[in-house]
Amino acid sequence: DEATAKRKDAHLDLCATGDVEPAQNTTLLECVRLVHCAMPEMAVEEVDLSTEFLGKKLRHPLLITGMTGGTERAGVVNRDMALLAERHGLAFGVGSQRAMAENPQAGESFQVRQVAPTVPLLGNIGLYQAVGLGVDGVRRLADAIGADGMALHLNAGQELTQPEGDRDFRGGYKVVEGLVRAFGSRLLVKETGCGIGPEVARRLVELGVRNLDVSGLGGTSWVRVEQLRATGVQAQVGAEFSSWGIPTGAAIATVRRAVGPDARLVASGGLRTGLDVAKVLALGADVAGMALPLFRAQQQGGLAGAEQALATILASLRQALVLTGSRNCAELRQRPRIIVGELKDWLAAL
Ligand code: FNR
Repeated sequence: DEATAKRKDAHLDLCATGDVEPAQNTTLLECVRLVHCAMPEMAVEEVDLSTEFLGKKLRHPLLITGMTGGTERAGVVNRDMALLAERHGLAFGVGSQRAMAENPQAGESFQVRQVAPTVPLLGNIGLYQAVGLGVDGVRRLADAIGADGMALHLNAGQELTQPEGDRDFRGGYKVVEGLVRAFGSRLLVKETGCGIGPEVARRLVELGVRNLDVSGLGGTSWVRVEQLRATGVQAQVGAEFSSWGIPTGAAIATVRRAVGPDARLVASGGLRTGLDVAKVLALGADVAGMALPLFRAQQQGGLAGAEQALATILASLRQALVLTGSRNCAELRQRPRIIVGELKDWLAAL
C-alpha cells in the first residue's frame, strides 16, 4: 500500500545520504591481518575466484544483498544492480517483497530476469511477514520473479525501533521449519546488520537451513535508519541501540566454527573494500555480501558509478589473493592470519 511505498522511499533517501553507519559501528575486520607472501610465484590472471551458489556458478564470490523494490526508483536500483551482477558473475537479491505481496502492481520493480537471465537470484521476505503469507504465499513471491532461492530476513532490532513494527517474536523457528520443507537448499536465512551468532546458526542448520548470511554489525544499521525516522521513546532507545549487534568478523568466524564445512555462508555487513572481502573469505565465508557501498555508488553515479566501485573492490580482492600467495578462495582460507584485539575476545567467548 501507499504507506509501505512511502516508507521504502524514505529508507532509500536515508541510506543514500544519511548517517546510517554510526561511527561506533565496526565489523572488527580491522583486528584481522592476512600475512604477506614476498614470492607469490603466480600471475594475477591465474587467480580463480569462482564458486558455486544456489546451484549456479559465480565468477566472483560476491552477493549484492537484498535492498529494495516496490517503487519506480527502487526498480531502477534493482535493474542496475542485477545488470552489474550479470556482467561480473555475481549473485543478486531483491529487497523485501512485502510491497509486492500487498500490491501486485508493485511487482514490476522486482523483475530483473530480463537484464539478469543467468544470475543466482534471491527473493526476500521478513520472517514475520512470512507467517501471514504462509508457505505457499512465499513460494509465489519467489516464482513471480524467477528466483533461484528465497532470503528470509531477521530484523528484531529494526522492528522494535519502528512504531508500526512487530513486538512478538515467538514461533520463529517453526516458521523456518515450514519454509525449509518448501524450499530445501534454496532457502537462505539472513540478518539485516545485527548479526547471526553461533547459537542461532546451529539451531537453524539443525532445522535444515543450508544457506546463512550472518549480516553482522559494522555497516548499515537498520536500527539507526528507523531511529532517524522515529520520535519520542523509540528515537532515544534507537539511538542507544544504533551500534548493537555481533560484528561481522566475529559472526562469520564463530558461525563457521559452529556449523562445520557444509553450510554455505555469506558474510555481509560493513564490507567496504576488496581487502574486507578477502578477510571474511579467510575467516570462513563462501560468499561476501554488500549493499550500501554499491547502492551509494549507483545513486551518485548511476550504473557507471556502481561499475567503478565494483572494479575497485575486485582489483583489491585479486591483489589480496596474490599477496597471500592464494590461487583461489580455498587456498586463502588455509593461509595463516593474525587476530588481535576485541575480535580475539569475541572468538574466545562465543
Ligand atoms: C538493506 N537491507 C535489506 N535486507 C533485507 O533482507 N531486506 C531488505 O529489504 C533490505 N533493504 C535494504 C535497503 C538498503 C538501502 C540497504 C543499504 C540495505 C540489508 C542488507 O541486505 C544487508 O544485510 C545490510 O545492509 C548490511 O550490509 P551493508 O549495507 O553494510 O553492506
